[in-house]
Amino acid sequence: MENFTFHNPTRIHFGRGQIASLRQELPADARILLLAGGGSIRQNGVYDQVVKALGARTVFEFFGVEANPDFDTLMRAVEICRREQVSWILPVGGGSVLDGAKFVAAAVHFPGDPWNILAKRVRQLAHALPIGAVLTLPATGSESNGAAVISRRRTREKLAFISPDVYPRFSILDPETTFSLPPRQIANGIGDAFTHVIEQYLTYPADAAIQDRFAEGVMLTLMEVGPKTLANPADYDARANLVWAATCALNGWIGVGVPQDWATHMIGHELTALHEIDHARTLAIVLPSLLQVQRDAKRGKLLQYAERVWGLREGPPATRIDAAIAKTRAFYESLGLKTRLSDYNVGPDTAAEVARRLKARGMVKLGERGDITPEKVEEILRAAA
Ligand code: NZQ
Ligand code: ZN
Repeated sequence: MENFTFHNPTRIHFGRGQIASLRQELPADARILLLAGGGSIRQNGVYDQVVKALGARTVFEFFGVEANPDFDTLMRAVEICRREQVSWILPVGGGSVLDGAKFVAAAVHFPGDPWNILAKRVRQLAHALPIGAVLTLPATGSESNGAAVISRRRTREKLAFISPDVYPRFSILDPETTFSLPPRQIANGIGDAFTHVIEQYLTYPADAAIQDRFAEGVMLTLMEVGPKTLANPADYDARANLVWAATCALNGWIGVGVPQDWATHMIGHELTALHEIDHARTLAIVLPSLLQVQRDAKRGKLLQYAERVWGLREGPPATRIDAAIAKTRAFYESLGLKTRLSDYNVGPDTAAEVARRLKARGMVKLGERGDITPEKVEEILRAAA
């Protein structure tokens, strides 16, 4: 295991009725920007709960943050913050709204062009506004990490930034707020969280026993409660376990001291920017092919994954690896996440375009060993046709 320093500053309020804890969390004199998406929170009663908990505080509202939040939209929210001297950002929604809040919080006092936060991957954002989040979609882990992914439709880009300064100070996770999710978003959430675990686990052995067992536990939990919560969306316990699994998948715990891959995500972001495919679906397309192309480099962990996650103990190693990759693909498909580019009417030519774009961004050494070159990216996507 590598050396590490671990600090996750997000306080979590988990369970039914927890939106009321906004009352203690937000200062009485806070000037708050409530950030939201297209309106789901008005339909499912979450907005009413939030407004009630905020009481007499000064609140400005900004609705309209898109799925894959857009830079130009968010800059309008930044202007409100500057004009109204907002002191806290309160995102209420899914990963897109939370990521959008991180960007807004970082951009308000950022010197120069805020796009540089993304283009130059700025990490130190000491003047970021504090964020408190109400999460309504289990998927991204954004409620308890310092990452955000922002799109710019005008230039067809989708870039990430990571900073210790934009972790939410607190996040409220009430599983009941997620009951109104359509099956497509529940499935996306399960697939996204599963892939987050894989990206931190399926690399090479690092003798990190706790991280491995914890990662395997999160995957097994997702495999168990995922289908359950899709079949019975109002089953509180199944949903509560999905919500907490998605947080644990990307709040840092399983990733400390171990090698990480993230090539699937980097390739996936380009597919969303180019073809507007949902984030989780891009991962379902890329990951099975990536595992196939990288099977020699990932051999040790693939065999561990085959045995501990899928119970594959019999037969020659190559057969077990084939079966583990096939089961991974089948898991995505069972959730309704199609795993081929052709399922989304995208032709194989996108392979060269994605490779070219990553190269232009200097992303020429992806993966845990830096051996996923643009040529390999192309190979992976051609295998996903
Ligand atoms: O906009 P509204 O009306 O709220 O509707 C949303 C949206 O249409 C809807 N929704 C959310 N909660 C709901 C609900 N509908 C009914 N009931 C509810 N309770 O769901 C739709 C999708 O929401 P979105 O926030 O886009 O989904 P998700 O949470 O999957 O976030 C995806 C974004 O997160 C980024 C992705 O790239 C993508 O931009 N990611 C962020 C990460 C991070 N910060 O660490 C890591 C991830 O790998 C990912 O890249
Ligand atoms: Zn993801």
